[in-house]
Amino acid sequence: MNIDIISLFPEMFAPLEHSIIKRAREKGILSLSITNPRDFSYNRHNHVDDIPFGGGAGMLLKPEPFFRAVDAIEARRERRPHIILMAPEGDVFSQKKARELSHYEDLIFICGHYEGFDHRIIDHLADECLSIGDYVLTGGELAAMVIIDALARMLPGVLGCDTCAETDSFACGLLEYPQYTRPRNYKGLGVPPVLLSGDHAKIDEWRQKKALEVTLKKRPDLLNGLSLSPKQKQLLNALKNNCD
Ligand code: ADE
Repeated sequence: MNIDIISLFPEMFAPLEHSIIKRAREKGILSLSITNPRDFSYNRHNHVDDIPFGGGAGMLLKPEPFFRAVDAIEARRERRPHIILMAPEGDVFSQKKARELSHYEDLIFICGHYEGFDHRIIDHLADECLSIGDYVLTGGELAAMVIIDALARMLPGVLGCDTCAETDSFACGLLEYPQYTRPRNYKGLGVPPVLLSGDHAKIDEWRQKKALEVTLKKRPDLLNGLSLSPKQKQLLNALKNNCD
């Protein structure tokens, strides 16, 4: 996958030079490059913002540097990339969206900073506008990194084990069941005996039950509209009856 990021602060993307994302880049699964719209401002002081028509406080990011930056990226791509603009008014990002985005070959993330965009960038340049939550950040950079991280780990070959991304919290619509490793006993704290039983059918049922239990307790909203297996429905009903 090729990801281009348009940002006035390319240095902010240092976190994508570490750990799993670093390895994905080294393996050639993911290519990342950053374009600074200031390089496309073509005015005397390289300004990328201006005052809003109609008056009002603050400055707005001008359209030309962003349209030109996208043109420059498109000129070196074989396909037209899918363009995502980061803004608090966008659709709220989710695991489902991460899965959907992981199927594109070419993506562009447009990040603003401090100020808003001239609306022509939103209406005529971006294919979609995404937010990472109902709060306002100083810019779209952190939000773009969150999305890139979430979708990159779904690309085949990025995680050590290919099924990891499938057993994650949210992947099947439920939160993840609790997991334990050695030692069996840490300062008197044991692990659930079923996990030491070697009975894989029992372990699987325990995990399904725990995933349902933790979701019911912490995020019951996630259960609405999920298509559960007959076994899961039975487990969930038993959990609900126990709560009453
Ligand atoms: N830019 C500022 N706040 C943001 C948010 N919550 N999500 C995405 N981009 C943003």
